[in-house]
Amino acid sequence: MELLDLGAKEHDELRQGEAYKPFIKDPNLYKKHFYIESYGCAMNFADSEVVASILQDQGFGATNNIGEADLILLNTCSIREKAEQTIRKRLTEFRKFKTNKSGLLVGVLGCMAERLKSKLLEEEKLVDLVVGPDAYRSLPILIEEAETGQKAVNVLLSRDETYADISPIRLDSNSVSAFVSIMRGCNNMCSFCVVPFTRGRERSRDAHSILAESIDLFEKGYKEITLLGQNVDSYYWIDEVNTHAVTFAELLEKIALISPQLRVRFSTSHPKDITDDVLFTIAKYDNICNYIHLPIQSGNNRVLQLMNRTYTREWYKAKVERIREIIPDCGISTDIICGFCTETEEDHQDTIDIMKYSRYDYAYMYFYSERPGTLASKRFKDDIPEEEKKRRLTEIVDVQYHLSLKSNQNDIGKTFRILVDGESKKDANFWKGRNDQNKVAVFEKKNHGILIGDYVQVKINSCTKGTLLGEFVSF
Ligand code: SAH
Ligand code: SF4
Ligand code: F3S
Repeated sequence: MELLDLGAKEHDELRQGEAYKPFIKDPNLYKKHFYIESYGCAMNFADSEVVASILQDQGFGATNNIGEADLILLNTCSIREKAEQTIRKRLTEFRKFKTNKSGLLVGVLGCMAERLKSKLLEEEKLVDLVVGPDAYRSLPILIEEAETGQKAVNVLLSRDETYADISPIRLDSNSVSAFVSIMRGCNNMCSFCVVPFTRGRERSRDAHSILAESIDLFEKGYKEITLLGQNVDSYYWIDEVNTHAVTFAELLEKIALISPQLRVRFSTSHPKDITDDVLFTIAKYDNICNYIHLPIQSGNNRVLQLMNRTYTREWYKAKVERIREIIPDCGISTDIICGFCTETEEDHQDTIDIMKYSRYDYAYMYFYSERPGTLASKRFKDDIPEEEKKRRLTEIVDVQYHLSLKSNQNDIGKTFRILVDGESKKDANFWKGRNDQNKVAVFEKKNHGILIGDYVQVKINSCTKGTLLGEFVSF
């Protein structure tokens, strides 16, 4: 995502607006095949794994060879206009596959399906299926309808669907890290954001099913689980059997107790909802990573109010202090939007100021993109010219560059426990992994007998803004 995602290439984490093409094993077991591409956030990626499970039960095997597919699916994102443009472009690229293979079906899933509904069928004439995020269970029926030449649509949102009983098929599978969805939807109504409209009301998944899925992953050899939700800290699920309400802090603890060998991460926290209980739980367990993604969006109180973020800069700063007090070595990253409606140069400088105050290790930075139907699009004028938005973004990216570099330089000389998740993309003689703070570290393989999925102690000798470079110390 060009300059929007500073260091994203080295920090190859799945975030909003990025495409993810899964690596799929065993494509030859099935007669019919589906090919799926996921765009957007980790929630979408996790949903694609639920979709894969539903389709596999119907006799469709996953393939990463698009030419072999009987069904092409795009799991889409609407967060910014550019995300939707990418999907439209991709859909037109599918035209050649449609003309070459009769009976080939093309389906749009996810947030863009939800936002545009049947309009997508009219606008993008080659689409056969449109299925919203809460309607994946109806995929088999919709595929049958589409096979008879009808256009098939289901974009009903649900108040209780969490796909709790569906066992996701892991599509990427480095077999080390997996996403586990713990809640769906969002009730926050940040004025710029389309998610409450595309994903519906917030609901939490049955804690027993989350625990069961996590145990199963650990038993299959996974070493790291990321608990997913748009706002994980408001997780709240009532166990009707013993009438006990499970909070996010309790859920985190339950997952951490599966094994000290299983790392636990989570994403995303809304600053207003992250409690001391959660912070103390992170501090208590070594295997809960000391890393919090805490989106600020803007550092100016007036803009924060227009955004409906419900906190002030002073409140946010106090939260950062509290995190550092309870978890001294906690990594903190953020999301920033610049050029929101009415944002002045002084307001923009407040954002720069809070970035420096918070000393973010990493940031996802965007300029405002008006989304139809959101509160901001109805109430405020998108009045900052694109050139100016880009200028402000460049400044923000530059500030973050220095903060990331400084943060990494501070780690030189330290030794970290790294979970090895693969080879370095740049040099196959190096292993790559992450530390507790979610920073990427690389180190020379040599002949230590290290395997993917091992935890190793690595001493850091140098760095770039996106990567720590070190040497193996011990297992
Ligand atoms: N639920 C998460 C984030 C979801 S969207 C949270 O609240 O943290 C991810 C990020 O995309 C947001 O944090 C925001 O920075 C950005 N974003 C959302 N809507 C946007 C818009 N209309 N224009 C630009 N960026 C946007
Ligand atoms: Fe969007 Fe705000 Fe909900 Fe995040 S918390 S998904 S930014 S409405
Ligand atoms: Fe995009 Fe939907 Fe996620 S809009 S960021 S895919 S929730």
